[in-house]
Amino acid sequence: MTSRSTDRATVDWPKGASPEPRSHPNTANKPAIDENVGRKRFGDFNVTGKVFVVTGGAQGLGLAMAEALVEAGGKVYALDIAPEPDQQWQEAMERVDPDHGGALLYRQQDVSDTAHLDSLIEAIAAENGRLDGVVAAAGVQQVTPALDYTPDDVARMLAVNYTGVFMTAQSAARQMFRYKTRGSICLIASMSGLIANKGLLSPVYNSSKAAVIQLARNLAMEWSPVREDGSGGIRVNCISPGHILTPMVRKNFEEVPGLRETWEAENMMGRLAETTEFKGAVLFLLSGASSFMTGNNLVIDGGHTAW
Ligand SMILES: NC(=O)c1ccc[n+]([C@@H]2O[C@H](COP(=O)([O-])OP(=O)(O)OC[C@H]3O[C@@H](n4cnc5c(N)ncnc54)[C@H](O)[C@@H]3O)[C@@H](O)[C@H]2O)c1
Repeated sequence: MTSRSTDRATVDWPKGASPEPRSHPNTANKPAIDENVGRKRFGDFNVTGKVFVVTGGAQGLGLAMAEALVEAGGKVYALDIAPEPDQQWQEAMERVDPDHGGALLYRQQDVSDTAHLDSLIEAIAAENGRLDGVVAAAGVQQVTPALDYTPDDVARMLAVNYTGVFMTAQSAARQMFRYKTRGSICLIASMSGLIANKGLLSPVYNSSKAAVIQLARNLAMEWSPVREDGSGGIRVNCISPGHILTPMVRKNFEEVPGLRETWEAENMMGRLAETTEFKGAVLFLLSGASSFMTGNNLVIDGGHTAW
């Protein structure tokens, strides 16, 4: 164990080999029998009273995912580098229905400022006495031929898309260990972590997403077993979306004429996705509905990688 002092407490983080899963089975995060055997309608998707962090939550996919968790009753902190969330966020705020019990809050945070990220996530958990889930959706894209990539460009991309994602998961897991919340961590990867992206020169983005898919397997292995003190039991998975109409992709279309048509022709649905088409997936992964899923990658791409 390594000790880490904070202004609130000294916490021991697990270090070294993970517990052997069979001698430390993760039974504690099975949904209660009255939740998943029909006494409540889809009770195992209920996240009322749970607290979540979604990075990249100011707009685009992160915002749609944050809204899904709010709609299902969660209290969601959207973290983003943008000083203010955009117009889409204001519209999402107006849709928050207090009858559903959820809440949507905004905190400015650059995920590559990992020290501040860690203290912010610690403060959010302390404010609520828990942290139940995190979605690491903050990401950046840079369209540049491989021959022109500079080391600084590579480092800048990886600081957000890989290190930022890893440190978001680490900071969240620390709080889940601390509060013994048996949380769920969802890393936003991409089908671009599985295939080269026809028509788009983005070697670093694509390989950063491949790294995120592999990271999820390793974090799941380390954190899924429940430890002697009742901590752990943290599930870690990825979502790998296909092409979605978001501000990031609209910028790609401006940069590369004809790209939209190329991408629409590349999947079995003949169109791009809307951000709202990922709401069900994130709710599945962050709720008890996915209690037996860890270390895996949910590919939602309109069949793009299937032919
Ligand atoms: N749009 C797609 O087709 C698509 C497909 C697969 C995966 N993804 C992934 O989904 C995630 C969301 O992408 P999107 O398409 O909604 O893009 P987007 O650009 O619309 O949203 C990304 C958000 O991340 C924030 N962000 C960027 N750098 C940050 C930093 N250092 N710290 C904190 N926040 C930061 C941005 O401000 C923005 O609000 C990304 O990880 C992206 O790689 C997108």
